Amino acid sequence: MTTLSEAIRKHHLSLGKTLQAHARGVGGSESQRERDAFVAFLKGDLLPHAHSEEKYLYSAVDNLVREHGRPTATMSVDHEFIADYVARIERTACELGSATDGDRARLLGQLRDLALRLDAIVELHLAKEERVYLPLIEEHLDPTRQRQLLEAIHESYEEERKAPADAALDVREIAPRERHRLIFDAFGALKPGEGFVLINDHDPKPLYYQFQAEHGGEFVWDYLEQGPEVWRVRIGRSAAA
Ligand SMILES: [Fe+2]
Ligand SMILES: [Fe+2]
Repeated sequence: MTTLSEAIRKHHLSLGKTLQAHARGVGGSESQRERDAFVAFLKGDLLPHAHSEEKYLYSAVDNLVREHGRPTATMSVDHEFIADYVARIERTACELGSATDGDRARLLGQLRDLALRLDAIVELHLAKEERVYLPLIEEHLDPTRQRQLLEAIHESYEEERKAPADAALDVREIAPRERHRLIFDAFGALKPGEGFVLINDHDPKPLYYQFQAEHGGEFVWDYLEQGPEVWRVRIGRSAAA
């Protein structure tokens, strides 16, 4: 028998695929029928899905989160998506810098799509923080604690702004046989103390052993995220090397 979560995942998959197909088609199409089909899908499938979850699922989930979950986990997922979009935008912007004329239009379109999708995610994310979290803070958090938090947030933000973020090297869409060469090239270009964040679709353990064999004592290796889908490792050149 299909479980509840299987059924929901399946429905999400189908909603996501249909929405994506419409989103790709509708802007470039002159067909009124395509536009009508899009609106019919949004009103006939997407909104009813949301309303039925609102009506029956969320009250059950509220209790489960209270007992077993972390209420802000959904927001951390947003932050993960935001970081991923930033990395994809950086990669596309970088590819545009050396693109041939034949690739430019495609890459520019890709950059615009990524920017618009990030814009939508951030708009929603900020609204959630402002509509749900801030009123709770204003109403229920002691003013002294509010001041302490503000100071801590401000300090961490300024600190990160001063230290330029490490560049991301996302090898998930690179052919496996080319990955190691790319990574060692990136390492070769680092000055002492510098690093980059490797993003991979599996644990890059064999790479670690290769680094140990070839650059033992010259590199630092810090896992920032360890699966199950994405691995992020900060690989740096030791300050003393
Ligand atoms: Fe849903
Ligand atoms: Fe946030």
